[in-house]
Amino acid sequence: MFTLPALPYADNALAPVISANTLSFHYGKHHKAYVDNLNKLVAGTEYESATLEKTITETAGKADKAGIFNNAAQIWNHTFYWNSLRGNGGGLPTGKLAQMIESDLGGFDNFRKEFAATTVSQFGSGWGWLAVEGGKLKIVKTGIAEVPFTKGQKPLLTIDVWEHAYYLDYQNRRPDYVNAVIDKLLNWEFAAENLAKG
Ligand SMILES: [Fe+2]
Repeated sequence: MFTLPALPYADNALAPVISANTLSFHYGKHHKAYVDNLNKLVAGTEYESATLEKTITETAGKADKAGIFNNAAQIWNHTFYWNSLRGNGGGLPTGKLAQMIESDLGGFDNFRKEFAATTVSQFGSGWGWLAVEGGKLKIVKTGIAEVPFTKGQKPLLTIDVWEHAYYLDYQNRRPDYVNAVIDKLLNWEFAAENLAKG
């Protein structure tokens, strides 16, 4: 059985950038639904007792396993997204991450612009990511439920741009949501922990 991981903070911890109303629907309804759907889909299959990562890796790109992949990857993506954010976040990264932003992405201002532009430009539902590939930082976007780690990219941070992530608070103003998340909510400590992982 797959389970819904606890939110790392209270429903109102990200307000006013992301309201408690958005967070309670996004986590309590959407994230939970992916868990409930996946448990139904894997019942009686080899994935019933597999880890989430193994389930995602083994079903990626397989048309006959798309339902399992989409729900498993969306569980993983949302847990990663909650951890990519924190109240009073944003600001500047430090240490190795700051050095890599300088050397690989042309400095923080350029990172900020490129991360926002790439994430906002995802056509339809999907995700913007700061990731590492071949030892270098990269900014990438993925559609629907796709995850960078099935393509050899190690994710450090993500922003959800499914409409359910921002529509109650920002309606169609996706750029306002993305810029506010970058400036006020990004959890650079989480990014540094991910960078340090093998
Ligand atoms: Fe979402």
